[in-house]
Order: sequence, then C-alpha cells, then structure tokens
Amino acid sequence: METENVVIRHARIIDPSRQLDRVGDILLGNREIAAAGRLGVDRIPDGCKVIDGTGLVASPGFIDLHCHLREPGFEYKETIAAGSKAAAKGGFTTLCAMPNTDPPIDNAAVVEFIQQKARQDSLVRILPIGCVTKERKGHELAEMEELASAGVVAFSDDGDPVYDANLMRLALIYSLDLGLPISNHCQDKSLSCNGVMAEGPVATHLGLDGIPAAAEEAMIARDIALAEATGGRLHVAHLSTGGSVPLVRDAKERGLSVTAEVCPHHLTTTDQWVLGRKGEPAAAAGGLAYDTSTKVYPPLRSQRDVDILVSALAEGVIDCIATDHAPHDLTSKQVTYQEAAFGISVLETALGSLLQLVHTKKLSMGAMVDRLTTGPARVLGESYSDLASLQPGTAADLVLFDPEQEWTVDTSKFESKGKNTPLEGTTLKGRVMATFASGRMVYQAPKLKIEEFRAKV
Ligand code: DOR
Repeated sequence: METENVVIRHARIIDPSRQLDRVGDILLGNREIAAAGRLGVDRIPDGCKVIDGTGLVASPGFIDLHCHLREPGFEYKETIAAGSKAAAKGGFTTLCAMPNTDPPIDNAAVVEFIQQKARQDSLVRILPIGCVTKERKGHELAEMEELASAGVVAFSDDGDPVYDANLMRLALIYSLDLGLPISNHCQDKSLSCNGVMAEGPVATHLGLDGIPAAAEEAMIARDIALAEATGGRLHVAHLSTGGSVPLVRDAKERGLSVTAEVCPHHLTTTDQWVLGRKGEPAAAAGGLAYDTSTKVYPPLRSQRDVDILVSALAEGVIDCIATDHAPHDLTSKQVTYQEAAFGISVLETALGSLLQLVHTKKLSMGAMVDRLTTGPARVLGESYSDLASLQPGTAADLVLFDPEQEWTVDTSKFESKGKNTPLEGTTLKGRVMATFASGRMVYQAPKLKIEEFRAKV
C-alpha cells in the first residue's frame, strides 16, 4: 500500500531525534511524514486510510547497523528478498549488510550488485558495508576509497577481526578522510583459539572449548589505542563482555571517536541457554545436551555480563542495538556444537526480546527506541539523521508496535530463511503491527485493522 493518505491516530509517538514522547497522530503522504502531533479531523483528507493507534507505539523505523543477508553466494541461508521481509516484520526499515558474502563486498562491482538487487527485491533500505581487507583475508587493505565512492556506509571484516594491528591502524587513518567508521569484530583469535562458547562453568560442564572474555577485551583495548593514535572512527561491533564496557566508557570520556553496539541476544540470554531453552538442561530438541542455535560469535555470556551490558545500554555508553542477524540453513546447525555454524536469526524476534528489558524496567521505552533509531543513525553520520526521524518532511520510515501483545516464536512462520534461534517456542511480549518504509506499507500484522476516513457531512 502506498502512503498517499494514511493516518495513525492516538498512538504514543516516540521520536528520540526530537525528544518527543506523547500521544498523537501521524499523517503519511507522498512517501513522507506529512504531519505529526494532535491533528484535528479537518487535517485528515477524505478517503484517508485510518489506523487506530490506541495503545500502540509509533517510532521511526529501526536501523540495523549489522546484519548478514548472505547475498551473493549463500542464498540457501538468506536472500535480500527474504531478509528484507524479515526486517519489515521486525520493524526495521534500514539494514546495513555485512560483507562476508561470496564474493565478499571488497570492490565496487559487488556493492553495485547488492544495490541493484536491493532496488529489485528489497522492501527496506539496504546499505552495504565494505570489507576492510581484500577478500576479508586480513592481509592487504581493500580499495576503501573505491568502496566508499560506490556507497558503502562503513567497513568491516565481520565474522573475523582485523587481526593485523598495522592494517587496522591504516584503516582507521583512511576512515578519517572517508568519514566512515571501521566496525571491528573484536576477537583475539590467539586467545579464542577453537572456542565455541563462553569460557566458564557451562563450557567446562559440557567439555566444550571456551572463549575467554579477554579475547574480546584485548582487541577492543588495542583498537581504542589505535583510534587514539590516528583519530580514526572506531565502531566496536557486538560487544559481549562486561569488561568491554569500561574500555568503551573510558575512550568516550577521553573524547575519542569510538562507538559501540550490542545485540539483543547478548542483552537477554546467557551461556546457560547453551544447555537448552532458558538453561533447562536437556530441554533442547531431541533431548540433546546442548542447543546449537545458541552458538554465536561472540558467544552468549554470564548473567553478570548481561547485567553490565544492559546498564551500559541504558546509560548510553553503548550507542545502539544491532541484530547481527546471522541466518543459517538447518544442516549448518544440526551437527555437534563444535561443528555448528556461529549465528542467530534475530530480525523477527529483536523487538519482542528487547521489550523484556522495558517491561522489567531495566531500560526505558524511550531509550530502547533511541538505541534502535537515533543511536545507529548517529554512528552512520549526520547525513543519515533523517532515517531516524518522524519530523514532517522526512521519509515515511516508521514502525507501529504493540508493546503488550504476547506471541509465541514459531520459526516455521519466519520470513527469514534462517530458523536458527534459541527462542523457538518461547513467548515474547511485544509485536510489530505495521512497518512503513519510504512511504510503503511493507508489513501489516494480521490483527491490524485499517479503515477509511469519511468526513462527516
Ligand atoms: O555469530 C556470528 N555469525 N558472528 C559473526 O560474527 C558472523 C556471523 C555469520 O556470518 O554467520
């Protein structure tokens, strides 16, 4: 449905870009936000589609700085078409696509391929991220300038760290001129070795190799030192340990150009879940000792880590929430824990997971929305601020969600090809009712009623 005339009435409008949080109406027209506030019926055009937003929250569409759309090369795991449908269902209107594709996004031709595919297949805006190093191999810098001219919004070798400190230093120097952040997957592989889950009692119990927190923290410390030496823009991808927080906090206090993201699963689940749902031993499908859908990189950590991350997110030390949506085919997960692929399919459960933090008062609703909208837009830079705004005149990128509606995660209903989530069968509270991207209604929940406005004569 085009937005020619849609009005959302009586919704709680949260627009962190204007510190706005109040009940009102939003009129969408001509692919833009036409008006927002308390609109009298005289402002509503006859024949306009009306959505009753009573009890619902309307906010700018969510921006995901970190997801894996797998195209080109791994279309059996995900496609831009399926990933974008999952995004729309999850309330996301902008996705930044990580470059660990095949071929990787390390030259302009691949960027153009993705942009073309997105124009053709995607319901939402797709912004490609380019590799830091050629073929993501970590030996030689990619043509960063060529990638920037082609339209990438950041650089990352995600899935792998930029291991070579001098390459990272050079990348940060280039990031200054190009005005784009380097998003590093901070993980010192000489410490994580063959680890498959967080180091700790659960790993010991299961006899699995653990990944120490120091593997992440050592590389974040290194990168902060390099950001300080160069003045470059460092973005720390998927922060997962409590010990990473003081490093980021201190870097910010010293005025360095450092930002950080955290994923819904690192905020709401722990390494206990590796044992099976919510840590109930052997509750995993088939009575296995572990649930491979919990295998993710960086790994799920302890409750203490989770608590520190949630506080840091609430405080704003962590700038934003990113999904690290990492869809995998079934066979990549129906193997031993050691052999299973790292990654969780997140786009469709992110909001429901995060709202747990709001319902339990660990995070305010306003802060949650900020970290999903204005927060990531700030990391992308000034020119993206309109993507996270309900200001009249900006693109109609908007999500309408019901924070109270309960639903049970059923991956057979996922739009994503990736059914790999430990949340299968769990009940979440909070659900997207409608998503508009660049003025188009790209998702409508079955329960959402849309009526036609008729001015009384
Ligand atoms: O769990 C993960 N999966 N972490 C990453 O960094 C990469 C991702 C993937 O591409 O599957």
